[in-house]
Amino acid sequence: MADRIFSGVQPTGNLHLGNYLGAIRNWVGMQNQYECIFCVVDLHAITVPQKPDDLRQATREVTAAYIACGVDPKKSIIFPQSSVSAHSDLAWILGCHTPLGWLNRMTQFKEKTGKNRDNASLGLYGYPVLMAADILAYRATHVPVGEDQKQHLELARDIAGAFNRYYENDYFPLPEPLIQGPATRIMSLRDGTKKMSKSDESDYSRINLTDDAEAIDLKFRKAKSDMVEGISYDESARPEASNLINIFSALANVSREAVVNDYGARNFSDFKKALSALAIEQLSPITSLMRELLKDVSYIDAVLKDGAEKAGAIAAKNMKQIHEIVGFVQL
Ligand code: TYM
Repeated sequence: MADRIFSGVQPTGNLHLGNYLGAIRNWVGMQNQYECIFCVVDLHAITVPQKPDDLRQATREVTAAYIACGVDPKKSIIFPQSSVSAHSDLAWILGCHTPLGWLNRMTQFKEKTGKNRDNASLGLYGYPVLMAADILAYRATHVPVGEDQKQHLELARDIAGAFNRYYENDYFPLPEPLIQGPATRIMSLRDGTKKMSKSDESDYSRINLTDDAEAIDLKFRKAKSDMVEGISYDESARPEASNLINIFSALANVSREAVVNDYGARNFSDFKKALSALAIEQLSPITSLMRELLKDVSYIDAVLKDGAEKAGAIAAKNMKQIHEIVGFVQL
């Protein structure tokens, strides 16, 4: 089976530097080598309450962000998850092959729900099954994501294996996670032990792809630092310094060692200034292109429609075979 890439981002809130460096930026280079399918996962977004108008807007924003970051709709398929019914169809089928014990191990569900588990929706609980369906509906072989999605991808492999074993075939490839580079887990700027996240209540915890130069500069200036002299890499003793080094290294495309070589003897203030200048240089063309693209909703929607048709055609062919394997009467 030819290599095929699948990945996605939820249209909830602002995209941030973690989404860019951990995922989207890595997709760009893959387009020339592989068949790539990039989804805006709106079915995943509604596992927690969403306002309809906000969801529509966020779906278009994520699409604009993909394009502005360098995902080329002429090379890659870009589409909204809800436009291809195979995702929910296959999620049901795979859900029937997923033991509850496997889902009970998912740390993201536990973290998101805390003590309030009884009020969480069935959708939120089944979220990783839908994610497996996203990938397997296209029989994708590789999935480029950040570190936080690793457990979900392991589950997707387990589910694919369970299906293959039950029906005694090897229909689904076991999808390989691609978790690469120095930025697989970008941490909050306010707390180096917490992941940078869309849902953190403090906007100072993250750099949004919509932030202007002034905001980026202010956020890096206010980023938490420590009392140790100089700049050195030590994830457990100096989580904040290490996070800033990782961000610098990813943005500048140089090794951590090179960053420490250049800035090791400098203080936080100097390092943050250099980092903020670098981030502004890299992000401002993306931000302005995103703004331009969003002025033309009909263009964004045309990209999504074209992508939906292409993704739908691939998935429909696979779903026909899957229905046959499962034993559904074909009419
Ligand atoms: P989402 O929308 O939370 O995040 C999108 C991508 O960004 C990565 N990411 C990060 N990388 C580094 N540092 C961070 N702080 C950081 N925060 C987020 C995520 O790992 C992800 O790659 N369930 C997925 C979306 C999804 C999906 C899929 C992905 C649905 N179906 C199928 C791959 C394949 C999610 O919520 O990502």
